[in-house]
Amino acid sequence: MSLPPRAPSDIEVVAHRGVSAEAPEHTLTAYQQALTLGADAVECDVRMTRDGVLVCVHDRRINRTSTGRGVVSALDLAELERHRVVHRRPRRAGIRGRPSRPAVAEDDVEPDEDAGRVLTLDRLLDYVTATPGRVRLAIETKHPTRHAGQVEAALLTSLRRFGLLSGGRPLEWSGRPAVRVMSFSPTALRRVRLLAPDLPTVHLVRQVLPRSRSRSRPVLPAGTAIGPSLAMLRHDPGLVGRLHRAGLQVHVWVVNRPRDMHLAVSLGVDAIITDEAAALMHLLGRG
Ligand code: G3P
Ligand code: CA
Repeated sequence: MSLPPRAPSDIEVVAHRGVSAEAPEHTLTAYQQALTLGADAVECDVRMTRDGVLVCVHDRRINRTSTGRGVVSALDLAELERHRVVHRRPRRAGIRGRPSRPAVAEDDVEPDEDAGRVLTLDRLLDYVTATPGRVRLAIETKHPTRHAGQVEAALLTSLRRFGLLSGGRPLEWSGRPAVRVMSFSPTALRRVRLLAPDLPTVHLVRQVLPRSRSRSRPVLPAGTAIGPSLAMLRHDPGLVGRLHRAGLQVHVWVVNRPRDMHLAVSLGVDAIITDEAAALMHLLGRG
């Protein structure tokens, strides 16, 4: 069934890693700010520690986002918890983030005393489900191949434990699913759909195809929505309409500059994933 372009008032604002332009990414501080702003959803990356705990960490290593060093999957939770989280923008922040705020060198930043220790997924779920003023969750699985299905199984177990998933069905808040799973890996998404058929999934894609190929070839969805990079939309604005006609929602990432926000809004995307949730809320007349 074809989907209409989303009206600006109905576009979902998704705070990427929390309000990560202002607070250390993947911390309760960053997620609290999203709730305070009234963002519709928060994005969170999950990785599995050596002892099988899902933690909210973007990079393969903890070097950029903490005072420690090492690969997440090679460390136990207790080892990760020895280090403090720090506020460092990704190296590509110069591209994604505010042009006036260049990416910082790793040694330039002091630990953020308020940020605390690494956030586990369960702690985030506990916070989100216990806090009034519902914010939906967009959870991205990182490196799912490393653990061959364990990440998805652990994720769904946690969602069930916090009442966000019952059988294969997600809890609904204001008539919309309270949680969805995103991944660049079609295999990971197929596993999720097998285990929880009604849980929405977003197939993230970053590749800009040559215009002729992208026109003739539909994106083969592994999810119920497609998450194109901003670069894909810039290169091929007609993509949104084609995906909508194929019945797929469009969740674009990561949109931080006002002119790119305007582009995404004018194309009628369904969700905009941004580090700059306050600016997007303001642009949509909601802040
Ligand atoms: O929300 C999708 C986006 O987060 C994907 O890119 O590298 O920030 O996880 P990345
Ligand atoms: Ca992500």
